[in-house]
Amino acid sequence: TGLITLDDGYANTGSCRSAITFIDGERGILRYRGVPIEDLAARSSFIETAELLIFGQLPDDEERAEFRSLLTENSWLHRDMRKHFDAFPKNAHPMSILSAMISALQSHDLPEHHFTDAMGFREAAANLIAKTRTIAAASYKSHIGQPIVYPRYDLPYAENFLHMMFTQPYRDYETTPEVAHALNMFLVLHADHEQNCSTSTVRMVASGGANMYASVSAGVNALWGPLHGGANMAVIEMLEQIRDGSLSAQQYIDRVKDKKSGAKLMGFGHRVYRNFDPRATILKSAADSMLDSMHITDPLLDIAREVEQAALADDYFASRRLYPNVDFYSGIILRAIGIPMDMFTVMFAIGRTPGWIAQWKEVTDNPGQRIYRPRQVYVGEPQREWKAREDR
Ligand code: CMC
Repeated sequence: TGLITLDDGYANTGSCRSAITFIDGERGILRYRGVPIEDLAARSSFIETAELLIFGQLPDDEERAEFRSLLTENSWLHRDMRKHFDAFPKNAHPMSILSAMISALQSHDLPEHHFTDAMGFREAAANLIAKTRTIAAASYKSHIGQPIVYPRYDLPYAENFLHMMFTQPYRDYETTPEVAHALNMFLVLHADHEQNCSTSTVRMVASGGANMYASVSAGVNALWGPLHGGANMAVIEMLEQIRDGSLSAQQYIDRVKDKKSGAKLMGFGHRVYRNFDPRATILKSAADSMLDSMHITDPLLDIAREVEQAALADDYFASRRLYPNVDFYSGIILRAIGIPMDMFTVMFAIGRTPGWIAQWKEVTDNPGQRIYRPRQVYVGEPQREWKAREDR
């Protein structure tokens, strides 16, 4: 049809110019604002990484302290917002609560003009990062019928989340350095990943001029699917299926190779990484050492290792250049921390929030930004005659 070029799934379409995240899929390189992911995962906190992504630089002491205060001041939900939790059915999926609540933040919290100056944007960014965590923990507490736990002003970001998740009536929760470190690393590794499905959604919505909360809420919904953020949960379901069906790793691999089965090897494959996913490499060794240091044995980790070995040795995966992605080992880590499975994708969303904010800002600040508006190749009926109902 005319001049339209079809690129199904946008495999070869550059949708924007971006200065935020660099990926070299052939060489397994990932950098945020030029800084290698390996250095950030080993040495940076999640909030420092968020500042790097959103404001372009690693913060100095003063910037770090100022952003910390903004996060603390904005970490609690407006009283009226807390009522929303009561309106969701008890078994509501935490992703639906998260997206609805982020959308509602725009009405409850900050008026539109807050985004227009630099300080207003810093506050809005801190507000969203702090509240995503509070909403996530509160949605879990409502789901299990426990009172919502207030954030503490004296705890770092990851520890504060664990406190809000796991403090129970009459029982305080004390995290360990291993758990806090693992959660922090998980969040850093998820913080941005250039033009993936949810980030492209955020940019798409932003390009129409929508506010940051509306755009990020759309991103949360895009993340939900099992081919994207839902994969971390799907990996654990797959490993449980292998365990409960007493299947060998090879038997499951054979089922995947039989395309008619419809089974996929969840946590494998990536559109951009063709040799390895650097996030998976980091998470695999983090899972090993975390479980070791906590003296946890997780039979699912053994199954994961067997499945990985069997897949890597198999020509089906090698010829298609399919390797473990970030989600293959992240569920093992989240399980060890004690996060329930239906919160896994929410954890991904908490981690991705700084990236979505940075990408929203990049679109919004671009003076010549055109609205995103892909074209299509029409394959429907040619022109047809309208008929009255009695003649149809
Ligand atoms: N298991 C079995 N076969 C696969 C898989 C898999 N996980 N991934 C791709 N293939 C096959 C696919 O069937 C196709 O085979 P053929 O050429 O014979 O038709 C070939 O490999 C190319 O796959 P594709 O579907 O064209 O690849 P894509 O770039 O469109 O999809 C993907 C990328 C990540 C959606 C896909 O690999 C997948 O579904 N993986 C499982 C879900 C998953 O782990 N998702 C998390 C991705 S990383 C984190 C994130 O972005 O959220």
